[in-house]
Amino acid sequence: MNYDEHGHGYSIHRRPDPRIASRIHAALGDARTVANVGAGSGSYEPDDRYVLAFEPSKVMRAQRSPGLAPAISARAESLPLDDDSVDAAMAILTVHHWLDPVAGLKQLRRIARRAVAVLTIDVTMLPSYWLLAEYVPEVTEIDSRCFPAIELITETLGGTASVESIPIPSDCSDGFVEAYWARPEAFLNDDVRAAQATWKSVPSGVESRAISMLEADLASGRWDERHGHLRGQSSYDAGLVLVMSQPARAFRISSPCLRCRPEGARIMTAVIRQIRPSDYRPVISVIDDWWNGRHMADKLPRLFFEHFTDTSFAAERDGELAGFLIGFVSQSHPAEAYIHFVGVHPDKRGCGLGRQLYEHFFAAVQARGRNLVRAVTSPVNRGSVRFHQRMGFDIEPGDSEVDGITVTSGYDGDKNDRVRFVKRLAT
Ligand SMILES: CC(C)(COP(=O)(O)OP(=O)(O)OC[C@H]1O[C@@H](n2cnc3c(N)ncnc32)[C@H](O)[C@@H]1OP(=O)(O)O)[C@@H](O)C(=O)NCCC(=O)NCCS
Repeated sequence: MNYDEHGHGYSIHRRPDPRIASRIHAALGDARTVANVGAGSGSYEPDDRYVLAFEPSKVMRAQRSPGLAPAISARAESLPLDDDSVDAAMAILTVHHWLDPVAGLKQLRRIARRAVAVLTIDVTMLPSYWLLAEYVPEVTEIDSRCFPAIELITETLGGTASVESIPIPSDCSDGFVEAYWARPEAFLNDDVRAAQATWKSVPSGVESRAISMLEADLASGRWDERHGHLRGQSSYDAGLVLVMSQPARAFRISSPCLRCRPEGARIMTAVIRQIRPSDYRPVISVIDDWWNGRHMADKLPRLFFEHFTDTSFAAERDGELAGFLIGFVSQSHPAEAYIHFVGVHPDKRGCGLGRQLYEHFFAAVQARGRNLVRAVTSPVNRGSVRFHQRMGFDIEPGDSEVDGITVTSGYDGDKNDRVRFVKRLAT
């Protein structure tokens, strides 16, 4: 859409919704400096960090609220910033307007050292939205061409990516076309539609046809017969998704290695990426060996490699598995996350890889609003106890002591005592 021509009045009907804003801001993690690309009138820009906004439309730039710094005139495809110059980059309901989304997404990854957050629409969900299915089916076809597929976004951003669906509240204050799923009358208001790019993309005559049909169906009660149940619903999944990506981290660890101390400092390069189902076999085939012959494989079923991939990681060195971490955000405790397993190849221990895996996990769960991490280990695993202590975990109170370490007896069943760890993440 040509925002210079059609962007007037945007700031009235497109006020950021606080519930959506909190999800976006959590995705930015602890970033202090943020680039907002395709910033529009500045919706969803956090006010507690330094924001550099980029927006090519003069009309949109002029609608930024007085409290925001002015936006720079630039397109996503060529951002005037050096590589790795901001902590995080965000792109909010804008990627589908870019001339070359892949080039723009590569720019986001190029300029951001850490998180990239992209709010967009999963077009595969569009046909289930009543407005598009019944009144403007043309949009589904047009949007399918404009909105990049979610897989294309995650692949282009690379690194470790996760996709979170964002339910749209029934009273959403940001009037994009999916926002009025429970308030059909809103579409009869010309100003509401004027702030929705959707209507500018359809051939002439389509908008007036669709709105006349909707008006008639509302007057006759037909809309309510079919969709009236939505009016009582508090939120709806219309395909709004937040794609979050952290860079693949090729890092060099130059601290002196415990095992190689006689040779002096050793430098190791590894890449940490999200775990995949195909990692199950490689991990399971080494796990007993890595745990010093203890039988561990049964404790790590395949489900962790299928259903916890957002917060579980594999580390590779020269294409070989060098370490892994399996963790998840708690379903029951909204501020907590849990590390179930961590393992580093015996030849690569003491070089900081375990620490890197933990820090990767901390960043991933902080981005999901978690600030407390728990883990347990067996009291016989002295290396694990010391590792957790070095990683800043405290030992939780227990009911007995083994060699001076507090344990909770029978925590995982008869004779399965555990040392319980907890760490509060810095906010
Ligand atoms: C525990 C384990 C993951 C640590 O991985 P690692 O890559 O060797 O750990 P790092 O090199 O990142 O060490 C991080 C810190 O912990 C300390 N540490 C790690 N292992 C230690 C050990 N056995 N004894 C004392 N300190 C240890 C390191 O000195 C380092 O401290 P520092 O940074 O303050 O100097 C690894 O030893 C392992 O895979 N063990 C077998 C599997 C296991 O027991 N997993 C844990 C239970 S699920």
